[in-house]
Amino acid sequence: MAKVLILSGAGISAESGISTFRDSGGLWDEYDVSVVCNYDSMQKHEDLTIEFYDKRRAELQTKEPNYAHKIVAGLKKRYGDDIAVITQNVDNLFEKAGLKSEDVIHLHGFMTQLRCQDSYCEKIFDVGYASQRELNGGKCPACGSKLRPNIVFFGEEAPMYEELNRHIQDCELFVVIGTSGNVIGVNTMAQFASRSILNNYEPSSAINDAYFSKVLYKKATEAVDEIAQEIESFLS
Ligand code: APR
Ligand code: ZN
Repeated sequence: MAKVLILSGAGISAESGISTFRDSGGLWDEYDVSVVCNYDSMQKHEDLTIEFYDKRRAELQTKEPNYAHKIVAGLKKRYGDDIAVITQNVDNLFEKAGLKSEDVIHLHGFMTQLRCQDSYCEKIFDVGYASQRELNGGKCPACGSKLRPNIVFFGEEAPMYEELNRHIQDCELFVVIGTSGNVIGVNTMAQFASRSILNNYEPSSAINDAYFSKVLYKKATEAVDEIAQEIESFLS
C-alpha cells in the first residue's frame, strides 16, 4: 500500500475555473443538492438532474489542469505505488495532467461516464463531454434500460471508500488538498498517519486543523511546492 495518501476535494480544481460546492457562490448555492445530487434525483427530478450534469460535463471540455494538478500528477508518475492519489472530484483534470485512469481513485464517480440504471447490468459508458441523451437516446446500448450519470449521489453507496479506508490504514504521510471536510472526516483520518498536511484556502468549520502536523491556508497552487518538497524528502 502507498506510504503517502493525497486526498483532494473541489478546492484543487477551483483555480481551473471549476466551482466548488460550499464556498459562497458554489454549486450548492446555485442548485438544490436534494434535487440534483440525491438518491431520488433520477426518479423524481430526472430532467433537472440530467441537465445539471450535462451542463457540468460540457463545461469540463474547456477546463485545464492547474499547477497543483500537474505537481501531484508528476509526483504520482515519479513515485508510482508509493503515492495514492484519491479525489472526491468527478472532473478529469488529473487525467488531463497526464495520469492514467488507474492512477486516480475517484470516490464520487466520474463526470465523463454514464452508467446503466439496471442493477443487473450497470455497464459504464464513456461519453466524453456529450449530453446524456446523445448516447443511444439515453438508453443503455447493452440492455435498453435508462442511463444515468456515473456519479455517487447523496444516500447512495460509494464503493471506492473501501479503497480510501485501506490506504488510510497504511499511509504514513496523509495530505489533504482543498476540501471542506463536510463529507469525508479528514480529522479522524489524520490521526492514523505519522505525519499529515492540511492545505485549504481557508479554515473550514468541519475540520479541526489541530489534528494536522502542518496546516497551509492558501491556494493549492501556492501550497503545492511546499507539499511536494515534504513528500519527496519523505520518500527519498
Ligand atoms: N485552493 C485550496 N483550497 C481551496 C481553493 C483553492 N484555490 N478554493 C477553495 N478551496 C477550499 C475551500 O476553502 C473549501 O474548504 O476548497 C474547499 C471546497 O469545499 P467544498 O466546496 O465543500 O468541496 P468538497 O470538500 O470537495 O466537497 C466534498 O461534497 O457535495 C459533495 O460530492 C461532492 O465531492 C463533493 C463533496
Ligand atoms: Zn444496461
